[in-house]
Amino acid sequence: MSDAIKSTLSEDRKFEPNAEFSKAASFGSAEAFEAEYRRSIDDAENWWAEQAKSLIPWMKPFTKTLQWERPYAKWFVDGETNASWICVDQHLKTDRKDKVAILFEGEPGDVRKLTYAKLHAEICKAANALEAMGLMKGDRVAIYMPMVPEAAIAMLACARLGCPHNVVFGGFSADSLRDRINDAECAAVITSDGGFRRGKPLALKAQVDEALAEGRCPSVKKVLVLQRTKQDVTMEAGRDHWWHDTVDKASAEHKAQPMEAEHPLFLLYTSGSTGKPKGIQHSTAGYMVGTTLSSRHVFDLKEDDVYWCTADVGWITGHSYIVYGPLSNGATVLMYEGAPNTPDWGRFWDIVERHKVTVFYTAPTAIRAFIKAGDEFPNGRDLSSLRLLGSVGEPINPEAWMWYHTVIGKERCPIVDTWWQTETGAIMITPMPGVTSTKPGSATRPFLGIDAEVLLEDGTPAKANEGGYLVVKRPWPSMLRTIWGDNARYEKTYWNRYDGQVYFAGDSCRKDEDGYFWIMGRVDDVLNVSGHRLGTAEIESALVQHEAVAEAAVVGRPDDLKGQAVVAFVTVKTGVEVTDALKKELRDFVGQQIGALAKPDDIKMAEALPKTRSGKIMRRLLKDIAAGRELTGDITTLEDKSILDKLRS
Ligand code: WT7
Repeated sequence: MSDAIKSTLSEDRKFEPNAEFSKAASFGSAEAFEAEYRRSIDDAENWWAEQAKSLIPWMKPFTKTLQWERPYAKWFVDGETNASWICVDQHLKTDRKDKVAILFEGEPGDVRKLTYAKLHAEICKAANALEAMGLMKGDRVAIYMPMVPEAAIAMLACARLGCPHNVVFGGFSADSLRDRINDAECAAVITSDGGFRRGKPLALKAQVDEALAEGRCPSVKKVLVLQRTKQDVTMEAGRDHWWHDTVDKASAEHKAQPMEAEHPLFLLYTSGSTGKPKGIQHSTAGYMVGTTLSSRHVFDLKEDDVYWCTADVGWITGHSYIVYGPLSNGATVLMYEGAPNTPDWGRFWDIVERHKVTVFYTAPTAIRAFIKAGDEFPNGRDLSSLRLLGSVGEPINPEAWMWYHTVIGKERCPIVDTWWQTETGAIMITPMPGVTSTKPGSATRPFLGIDAEVLLEDGTPAKANEGGYLVVKRPWPSMLRTIWGDNARYEKTYWNRYDGQVYFAGDSCRKDEDGYFWIMGRVDDVLNVSGHRLGTAEIESALVQHEAVAEAAVVGRPDDLKGQAVVAFVTVKTGVEVTDALKKELRDFVGQQIGALAKPDDIKMAEALPKTRSGKIMRRLLKDIAAGRELTGDITTLEDKSILDKLRS
């Protein structure tokens, strides 16, 4: 283990901005940033209007900045633009035409460089092919792809036509894919035969076939299939079309259609504390303003940067910070298909060295895995091209932050720990590189235009260092517009907590004496496993679908590598024998139902679950048991106390 972690560090350690970096940063000084921040809050509408006019091109200018009918926001409502046109067409009139837009590295080592001109041509071809298949503005399109340039091309082709995309992470199962297709009533699916992961071709088209089988996705009329791995697939005549037979043969000219500012750009499903995943709906213009602004300032993008965000396009991080934000800024975006440990744990550093990556954005779970793998991997590579590091997805523990700072950043690169969510569309709390002094483990302070606060249960602001709920007090352009088809759930989940007055993020947080935010984690039944968001309710409902299972309760357990591990407490039906084979079967069953990322790390077979007299499972106790902690809090409402001893033994 590296010295950086062994050293004992108190969390009040503070790192001043690197003076060399500050010279060329977006904001030269803390005062300059502070003044801009104040204006962005005190004169919010005018400030956002200025941003919207200068950051993105418009097909029809807007005259109205914000229409706020609590809790529904419309931004720039009478304006028109097109996200695909913003991301590519605007650069074609400049020197960026021949600049590399997407620098792709496949897991097997194949490298492709797509200039903005080439990317534009590919998007136009895909848009023409989709149109020829009968897709029209407003039709939803599911995208289930590996991390290859065509995933971004498919998204931008949909945006060009005004077809909201619904990207489903390739690690989700056929059942999860089907649920997401059906909830959004998608007219088409864009997929690939498969992708390369840990040296193996993974199958995607086969999963699509399973999802669509027996007419179980009645809305889907067409499936477009990219050939990536060349594995055998079955093609259904009339429904399925090869990318190389359609897209590759289509015209490379396509005029982007003007979209109303509020036209939904995409839906992205994410887990909540109850029920099925919800379709988070994002707009066109507001989302583009938020992602363009944050990419530019938070990542300090400069013309010659090679920017690499290691997320998958299946998550919001991939949407906002692989595709829309960086491309809108005309950046060179590196895209890597595979696993961080293929062929070994040095792969990322090898990529950084060979492609001279300058800005690198990853998740704490990856950082912790690198720490465990050993410093010899990064130390064996030339990382001198790096100038800025980012972290996202979960709280970064100070030890991981220090390792990132010393071993990767060589104490030279600013670290931006960015807090945000699928719902917020863009980064909300983050240091400004070159400006904000950083403290390991804190996302520091709200970004421009973001009025964040920590509130107590009763709605009063928490005092310094007092824990409370993280909220946002005013609307911001890239905020979610609603949950697809379910306004009631939108209101209930995000707004009812404080009478519709503020956006409730679902995270607990404290603000220290310097006004720095320390995110403590979810307050609801949402887990964060390796930076992936999972609902305990989803995993429970998968488990109880198994014939052997009577009841299931799922909780998170702190985990050094994953942040949280999934622990399932399961009772079986009478007569079922509890064996290790059954446990394995249940894990695999969850994998099939949801996806491998949701497989419980630990299944604890129980005779009964601890319940209140009114029959409610006492999850709080299960969390303590899972973590091997002393039981906390009141247990007087527990119906049968002997259950606890049995569970602990
Ligand atoms: C939840 C949102 C937004 C990109 C990826 C996750 C947690 C996210 C941080 C951070 C502490 C963080 C929160 C949040 N989270 N970033 N920098 N520090 N916690 O998006 O899947 O919508 O999850 O991730 O708990 O609510 P998501």
